[in-house]
Amino acid sequence: MPNENISRRTFLKVGGTSAAATAAVILKPACAATPPAALAPNTSHTLLPYLTKFVTTASQLNQGTPLTFSYPDASSPCMAIKLGLPVPGGVGPNKDIVAYSMMCTHMGCPVMFDGGTNTFKCGCHYSMFDAEKAGQMIAGQATENLPRIRLLYDEKTGKISANGVDGMLYGRQANVI
Ligand code: FES
Repeated sequence: MPNENISRRTFLKVGGTSAAATAAVILKPACAATPPAALAPNTSHTLLPYLTKFVTTASQLNQGTPLTFSYPDASSPCMAIKLGLPVPGGVGPNKDIVAYSMMCTHMGCPVMFDGGTNTFKCGCHYSMFDAEKAGQMIAGQATENLPRIRLLYDEKTGKISANGVDGMLYGRQANVI
């Protein structure tokens, strides 16, 4: 019988090679199924583009009187305000027109504009945000600034349009959905 002639050494060599080959076959699919982090799809946010949406004309805004609109979709209420003094990010002839989300970043309650201090105030838990400083949080329960709506100003026509959001809108994982 030929099998009886296989030495113990030969048996161990053949057996070891087979075990290694089997392990390689088992491991290869597992490695192939896990792409490097750089290639893995990032599902934490979308990269959908912001639309440009007409909001108002500069001449229609009166200082301290907010104009409400929605952006980037109907379920995101916003406010455009003429502050009366130039501010970073402000648009219009005097660089004093800004816009913000009206949803408080704490729990989504609507914020109200206070023209006396150029701040937004939330009546639910008293958070305050600075309209002159990109929606910076001043006080309260919120931990994030109020999202600012990016505005475009057309000098020829006076038209003001929204075309982006700085900051995450309350309750969303992506601003454009
Ligand atoms: Fe605005 Fe809580 S929801 S402070």
